[in-house]
Amino acid sequence: MQILIHAADAKQWQTAIASALPTAKVMTSNAALEDRQNADYLVAWQPPSWLFEEQTGLKGIINLGAGVDSLLNNPSLPAGIPIVKLRDAGMAGPMIDYVRYAVLHFQRDFDCYARQQRRFQWQEQPLVPKEEWGIGVLGLGAIGARVAQALSDDGFPVHGWSRSPKTLDGVTCHHGESGLTALLGQVKSLVTLLPNTQATRQIINAETLAALPVGASLINPGRGSLIDEAALLEALGMAEGEESVDKTDGEGRGRLRGAVLDAFDTEPLPADNPLWGHPRVLITPHMAAPTPRHAALDQVIETLKAWQAGEHVPSVDPAAGY
Ligand code: GLV
Repeated sequence: MQILIHAADAKQWQTAIASALPTAKVMTSNAALEDRQNADYLVAWQPPSWLFEEQTGLKGIINLGAGVDSLLNNPSLPAGIPIVKLRDAGMAGPMIDYVRYAVLHFQRDFDCYARQQRRFQWQEQPLVPKEEWGIGVLGLGAIGARVAQALSDDGFPVHGWSRSPKTLDGVTCHHGESGLTALLGQVKSLVTLLPNTQATRQIINAETLAALPVGASLINPGRGSLIDEAALLEALGMAEGEESVDKTDGEGRGRLRGAVLDAFDTEPLPADNPLWGHPRVLITPHMAAPTPRHAALDQVIETLKAWQAGEHVPSVDPAAGY
């Protein structure tokens, strides 16, 4: 079995896979051309097109992340090769922490206190109890489901939404278009953890933002494509050219209280993007849930062994996009 790795930390992956599968030949995409020929399997994060043009005998691809959007959008990806993605693989824990932090940022008024501090203002805000702070989680895949359940365990009323019907302990589950509208009307924080597909593109737009109660907040650790940025800025109440003005004294002007954003259409987020300077937006550089190698390695090895033994491994549905 010949395995090719394409990842920022390819050397470490190579060592780890080679020691778990001693009979396999494990190569990296940055090796000399003669040292990276005829791979059977590709283990990769965001592989470039030239890799597919070069490796024409691939029998399977393991995506070193939860989202397969970058891979499926690669114009050189050959059709018909099974793609297996990481499922949770240690990402849910850091994702839960990220979302919990972001929810508390609004529920415990840390956003307000940061602005008050700049004015030397000592003023306690009335506390909205957790029980009255509805949270919506869009996307109930391996990671979204864990996030929804963790927030529910924390004591928040949690509503989840997925394309097809699901049931989760402690979470009010909705599905389909009417389910989305029902969810939006009752949440104070909306968390987007959907995959990037045709069906989810700009699912957060002027219409869906208008369906949220005034004063709701948006938390996007999923994908930039889920958000119509112009509509988001509009809902935050920022006019063009006013990016550094804090307009949130009192009620603020937009219907949206604020946003915590980790994923963007263009990454790194360009310096001239108005979200950077918005006083009610917190930006992080796609760091919400890094993939810990030790946890991912187990899934990678399990998949490679199953493929080697000729077993069927559940794979991504390219038409659905996840
Ligand atoms: C990261 O964004 C992933 O899809 O795993």
